[in-house]
Amino acid sequence: MNQPDQDLPDENATGEDPNGKREVILSVRDICVAFGDNTVLDHLDLDVYRGEILGFVGGSGTGKSVLMRAILRLIPRQNGVIRILGEDYDQVDEARKFELDMRLGVLFQQGALFSALTVRENIQVPMREYLDLPQTLMDELAELKIEMVGLAPDAADKYPSELSGGMIKRAALARALALDPDLVFLDEPTSGLDPIGAAEFDQLIARLRDTLGLTVYMVTHDLDSLFSVCDRIAVLGEKHVLVEGTIDDMLSFDDPWVQSYFKGERARMIPDRRTGRGVNPDQGGTQAANQKSEAI
Ligand SMILES: Nc1ncnc2c1ncn2[C@@H]1O[C@H](COP(=O)(O)OP(=O)(O)OP(=O)(O)O)[C@@H](O)[C@H]1O
Ligand SMILES: [Mg+2]
Repeated sequence: MNQPDQDLPDENATGEDPNGKREVILSVRDICVAFGDNTVLDHLDLDVYRGEILGFVGGSGTGKSVLMRAILRLIPRQNGVIRILGEDYDQVDEARKFELDMRLGVLFQQGALFSALTVRENIQVPMREYLDLPQTLMDELAELKIEMVGLAPDAADKYPSELSGGMIKRAALARALALDPDLVFLDEPTSGLDPIGAAEFDQLIARLRDTLGLTVYMVTHDLDSLFSVCDRIAVLGEKHVLVEGTIDDMLSFDDPWVQSYFKGERARMIPDRRTGRGVNPDQGGTQAANQKSEAI
């Protein structure tokens, strides 16, 4: 699991980063998605590197979920190339698409779990879809995933309506991990959780990345998550990725929305994980941005 696939094509095709030699596990190029006249994504590019936690951020309604769904081929795109694990979905046969899909885990923003199924049954949905395993083995695997995400064993027999919001997120994460994916997509995994629950969830994500070697693509509005667990951040604005990089790259990027977001009142309360100090609002911000951040 999570080891480079024997079947992967040569180095060029896997998208090795020429500078850092990091493997590009997901490459999005020139993506356009429109619903009728409403163009949501316009020539968008994005790279995700193996083993990182990428925070994907942007204003509400800007297209974060749309991009995730387009990457997963749940909604059509009008243009662009998406390579996952170095392979272009549009160029591989159905059998390979099936194999690639197995390497991805997803936690959706809405409808994280099937309400008519227990947690155990929810976790086994992808196993039934992709694998042919005896029930006893699927039960053992489900128990393992439940433990992995920090739920008590008796959560297995509970229905989503019997769980707290935090437990639902963990159960949905367990389902996303059901097939031991290389890359997990999490759409707002901490929304609706209290700050302590959200911080615990963030730590869980970081721990799973460290222990399983996961790559995490996390759509989030949560500044704490961005500052505490994300290695890199990509900002969606004006229908494309405005900037991608580290927190420092965000803080020095001269764009009003980015400045306001990362240096606003809320950001100032969050200690930088490296320095332990709050973000300095005066560091490199534009006047307009600082004025806007004052207004938040
Ligand atoms: N299936 C669809 N059909 C038509 N329009 C859609 C569809 N899905 C999304 N949209 C539109 O695409 C735009 C982006 O929506 P999206 O859900 O990606 O936003 P978002 O960035 O995830 O927002 P939020 O932070 O609130 O979750 C919105 O204008 C939305 O109405
Ligand atoms: Mg969304």
